[in-house]
Amino acid sequence: MPKVSEVLAGSLLDRLDAELFLGEVLNFTPTELFAQPDFAIPETALARFHAFEKSRLTGKSVAAILGRKEFFGLDFFVNENVLIPRPETELLVEEILKIAPRSLLDVGTGSGAIAISVKKNLPHCHIVANDVSPAALAVAQKNSQNLGVEIEFIESDLLEKISGEFDLVAANLPYVPDDSHELQKSVADFEPRLALFGGADGMDLLRCLLRQISKLAQKPKFVLLEFGGGVQTEILEKFARELFPDSEITILLDLAGIARVLKITCSMEHEAHNT
Ligand SMILES: C[S@@+](CC[C@H](N)C(=O)[O-])C[C@H]1O[C@@H](n2cnc3c(N)ncnc32)[C@H](O)[C@@H]1O
Repeated sequence: MPKVSEVLAGSLLDRLDAELFLGEVLNFTPTELFAQPDFAIPETALARFHAFEKSRLTGKSVAAILGRKEFFGLDFFVNENVLIPRPETELLVEEILKIAPRSLLDVGTGSGAIAISVKKNLPHCHIVANDVSPAALAVAQKNSQNLGVEIEFIESDLLEKISGEFDLVAANLPYVPDDSHELQKSVADFEPRLALFGGADGMDLLRCLLRQISKLAQKPKFVLLEFGGGVQTEILEKFARELFPDSEITILLDLAGIARVLKITCSMEHEAHNT
């Protein structure tokens, strides 16, 4: 049986990926793996390692292969029906936690990453999360059960089937332009198109959601929308100012300094004019 050190040395993968997969198949922590270079790898574990290796060489991400991804310190189950939660989306969660709403609507919940992370930190917040994809909602349900939180999940195209009032509406909807060639292979080939693309400039769904929110009889106090930064920033900000002329509109930057979240603090005065 080959040893840990031999398999790591012979793998075609980056060292870090090879260590991750080997740790997974042996059920070893990184420290255990490091401490036992001469450990003989059983046949079944080796076969699993080679299957992971083969899959990784097709360009699939480690998270997609292992079927889990850490987000906001929590372990989320993921599969081919959901976007793998991104670290930059943690900004949206942090901003929600700062506001500490009593009720939250998470539009396009995917794996449930935003809704579940908020519920873990604000247990008294009433949370509704929706997605147009039933397969994505099944993943979100599973994650809410695994992580022990109660969230109301609704299958809905944006706000179509949503009723009730919310302090805060948050969304990380698709915002990649349809003809984008900038996506990594691990994303373009393995994550659902429905979770990625948002029309010619990427912002069709964001505009549609903002229009729907602006027409609500009872507007939320806050709206937080993730978007792609760059050219989208000015377009989205202008669009939001037209729809919410009396509200405070701010753009929040992520850790890389990229404009990432549009924040609308809805004016109650404006709400009164419209009702
Ligand atoms: C970019 S992914 C984000 C998933 C999750 N919110 C996150 O941050 O990881 C966008 C999600 O929006 C969903 N979606 C796409 N179009 C939608 C629509 N019209 N109404 C509701 N959800 C939609 C997709 O199925 C996908 O789960």
